[in-house]
Amino acid sequence: MSADGFGSGPPPGARADWTIDQNWEAYSQAEHDVWITLYERQARLLPGRAADPFLKGLEALDLHRAGIPDFARINEELRRLTGWTVVAVPGLVPDDVFFDHLANRRFPAGQFIRKPDELDYLQEPDIFHDVYGHVPMLTDPTFADYMQAYGEGGRRALGLGRLHNLARLYWYTVEFGLLETQQGLRIYGAGIVSSFAESVFALDDPSPNRLGFDLERVMRTPYRIDDFQQVYFVIPSLQSLLDATLQDFGPIYSRMAAATDIPIEAVLPQDRVFTRGTQAYAQKGGRNAA
Ligand code: PHE
Ligand code: FE
Repeated sequence: MSADGFGSGPPPGARADWTIDQNWEAYSQAEHDVWITLYERQARLLPGRAADPFLKGLEALDLHRAGIPDFARINEELRRLTGWTVVAVPGLVPDDVFFDHLANRRFPAGQFIRKPDELDYLQEPDIFHDVYGHVPMLTDPTFADYMQAYGEGGRRALGLGRLHNLARLYWYTVEFGLLETQQGLRIYGAGIVSSFAESVFALDDPSPNRLGFDLERVMRTPYRIDDFQQVYFVIPSLQSLLDATLQDFGPIYSRMAAATDIPIEAVLPQDRVFTRGTQAYAQKGGRNAA
């Protein structure tokens, strides 16, 4: 993940590209236990919910129950499978730094883990979100190419002043994407698979809309960073996602400059509707409801 509004350079102790040593030996048993607790909750929930490439990646990297994984270990296998590596960063990094890492097949992951009393809600992505949530999908060759292309596309969008449109694509795919399969909808988005509550909500709750993915539609749809999503977008395959994004976004960005945002809860006549949500959860005030 990335954020803007930073000062000029990396924090003290970080390298120019914002990376730090993971310092795996320094994690306490209490920190490993947080990983284990989170891992075991998701392990019970995700079979039959998470997409196959995610579950396969989890298996391949052996992100097992023994605690926080050592990046040096997972990188051996990840590099072999798709040429990606995970690098440690202190927290959110500036957009240009983030895109540069992705374009070079490096995924920046938070080095720290959440505290035992904040298992369910985080302000900033930690190592569980970043590694458990994101890294398994990077073992899939198609998704691996998509993420690298996104990094290159991010640098371009930044230069063109259209990052807010491109960020929505990241949000509704990499973070909150759903995949259509013959067995039903499956989760591949990291923000969902790393969240106990949203792993259920995203698939089972009657509240959110679940709509077919359409690139320009997604780029015009705002998102929520503070609560469950009001809309999820469903892709037919990872290949179709990669294919849709391989085109030149220049003409799309020109159209975006003139286009209006689509209200977050809207269902349009041209939408392919998997679920027309009740929006009851959002209307009741979401997580802040009494
Ligand atoms: N094709 C996009 C462009 O021309 C780049 C991109 C690729 C963006 C993949 C997102 C995902 O800018
Ligand atoms: Fe993320």
